Amino acid sequence: MAKIIVINGPNLNMLGIREPEVYGSTTLKDIEQSLRKASEDWDVELDFFQSNHEGALIDRIHGAFKQADGILINPGAYTHYSYALRDALSAVDLPVVEVHLSNIHKREEFRHVSVIAPIAIGQIAGFGYAGYELGLRALLNHIRN
Ligand code: DQA
Repeated sequence: MAKIIVINGPNLNMLGIREPEVYGSTTLKDIEQSLRKASEDWDVELDFFQSNHEGALIDRIHGAFKQADGILINPGAYTHYSYALRDALSAVDLPVVEVHLSNIHKREEFRHVSVIAPIAIGQIAGFGYAGYELGLRALLNHIRN
């Protein structure tokens, strides 16, 4: 059974409350539940982690070394400038899929850059919470092929 760590970065614990016109009304707990349900028959174990702290996210990524088969990550605003998060993902050498609820490419200019994307298999953005399911499918497909 594949083990995937699902990581959410800063402010994503505020989903449902935070800028609903951008991020929708779905909470992080709803996302977790729907991802668990969608993947029931996918022979996958999911481990969820959210933090507002860069170091805690890095520690969780390090903990995945040789313990997981892949990482699905929404790095929140760290996407745009955290070289430390990117280096942590490179260090553990696991396949990574980057996911965003919003289409970061049609928002403010500072969101157009992802320092994570160059070390990820790919990026999914703009499909709301469905992006997590799409990202998980893409990650499993990559791992199994
Ligand atoms: C986000 C996009 C980021 O620019 C933003 O800082 C977030 C959420 C998204 O899911 O659309 O916190 O990662």
